[in-house]
Amino acid sequence: MRHSEQVRLVKELLARLDSGTNVDAGGLRKNPVSAYTDEALATREWDEFFASRPQLVGLSGDLPEPGSFITTNDLGPPVIATRDADGAFHAFVNSCRHRGAVLVEEPRGTSRRLVCPFHAWTYDSEGTLVGLPKKDHFGEVDTECLSLVELPALEWNGLLYVHPDVDGTIDPGAMFPEDLAAELAEWNYGELTYLDSDSYDVDCNWKLAMDTFGETYHFAALHKDTLYNMFHGNVQCYDTFGINHRMVLTKRAIDEMRLLPESEWDITVAGLPVYWLFPNAILMPFENGAYLVRAIPDRERPGRHTSRIGFYLRPGVSAEEYFNDPEEAKRQIGLESEEVELQRLIAEGFANIIRDEDYWMSASQQRTAESGHIEFSLFGRNEPALHHYHSTYRSLLGLEPLPLLTEAEV
Ligand code: FES
Ligand SMILES: [Fe+2]
Repeated sequence: MRHSEQVRLVKELLARLDSGTNVDAGGLRKNPVSAYTDEALATREWDEFFASRPQLVGLSGDLPEPGSFITTNDLGPPVIATRDADGAFHAFVNSCRHRGAVLVEEPRGTSRRLVCPFHAWTYDSEGTLVGLPKKDHFGEVDTECLSLVELPALEWNGLLYVHPDVDGTIDPGAMFPEDLAAELAEWNYGELTYLDSDSYDVDCNWKLAMDTFGETYHFAALHKDTLYNMFHGNVQCYDTFGINHRMVLTKRAIDEMRLLPESEWDITVAGLPVYWLFPNAILMPFENGAYLVRAIPDRERPGRHTSRIGFYLRPGVSAEEYFNDPEEAKRQIGLESEEVELQRLIAEGFANIIRDEDYWMSASQQRTAESGHIEFSLFGRNEPALHHYHSTYRSLLGLEPLPLLTEAEV
């Protein structure tokens, strides 16, 4: 992020801290809880937001070298994404062209040859069929016509996008307004290395998982013993970029940073930028890396979803650098072993907060929504991200906008 923009955002956070104010959505909105329970709506969301749009499957660091691959079933068809011998990114339907077995079941790995477990047909990382055992017995086939089915794929500023439709297009110019595209490029996501990943199956709609990243009003209550120690609650910056948006949360470290000259201000010290990339990705760069959260809907059940979490680090970052005080971090997270690996420390820390606090609350919201006794939830003035996000998806589905209400109208 340009330093001038960092300074602008830090000043905005400081002004809000000093005046005891927060961003203001201009009113309140009532959101019908059917947004989280309606099966027909869930089908439409899948068709409009997931099956017919490019999907973020990871960051460049997920495919660190030629021959690296990742697989996913989150896009509808089973998909394998690869980095070929020349470093180019590809995506294919993860299905052998002989009799359709899933070619690779492992979630990730490195192999320049992808061998089908059924009869050992073999493909390279460009999807070309390069081996067919006992060809003379099987019969003559034109191997050139039996490459893996390729899907549109684009590696863009360190983000890996795949379109689940063979005929789909991936156009970053259509996905990101120019200012957001430039800002995403400035974070150099392409240089991050993959550290680890985790996934949480949660009894809540995918949008409830997204919602929990949409405000910091809850920090002083839900996260009073965890995040609230590190962040000021209910103070944030908020900017929209078309159907995407960016929040900046306020770290308590801003209190010391404000004493430094502006030239030394750093937004990752003063805060945590949270990019919400439509439809389901939350990308959070921090000084030593980035977290990527993707909420994957359960196509059968609107009240379920899976969150996939990716942890990425700047090259060479050690545990000491990641945690200012690794021993204190271990104590807080409750890990006793001296041999705790950095991966586990980060993954457990994230799970203790996002899975065990935020998503626990999301699941409780889902239960009450499904009770049929609650008609709507309320988005406050200090929760503008929720207004924007829900208005965006409703508008893309052709649904009535949620009216902005004054306090007297609620
Ligand atoms: S299905 Fe893959 S080799 Fe037969
Ligand atoms: Fe939270």
